[in-house]
Amino acid sequence: MNKTAIEDLIERALQARDFSYSPYSDYRVGAALLTQEGSVYTGCNIENAAYTPTNCAERTAFFKAVSEGKRAFCAIAIAGGPAGAPIEQYAWPCGVCRQVMMEFCEPDAFEVIVAKSKNEYQVKKLSELLPNGFGPANLSV
Ligand code: THU
Repeated sequence: MNKTAIEDLIERALQARDFSYSPYSDYRVGAALLTQEGSVYTGCNIENAAYTPTNCAERTAFFKAVSEGKRAFCAIAIAGGPAGAPIEQYAWPCGVCRQVMMEFCEPDAFEVIVAKSKNEYQVKKLSELLPNGFGPANLSV
């Protein structure tokens, strides 16, 4: 992806972060998922008083997209950090979210962008974050 496309996707993730519902951790995450058609699905983390039903920002974005018929993706931008402070660390996706990416994305092509701001980010392929991942190909689907 080119620099402008990356920056635009980060901007969408930062905007989605504003909707984070995270009263228990105060850790706010936003994500923006780019489809191969060029549309963007955003997501935020959604916590729960019972804790375990909490959904990560990345999975919110994926489930919104898949529930609307999208299954081909290019990249996801993620921005997360404690509420009320500048983002000082990259919010790398958790293992469960990496596994959800593995279900729908080509590991050597799908790009995971983690951002502190529009200008400070890192890009990695899913295969770098989940080497030797188990996916649909293992079940010949
Ligand atoms: N969280 C995400 O949204 N994405 C991740 O990949 C890691 C963690 C959320 C879940 C929870 O609401 C908060 O961050 C603290 O774990």
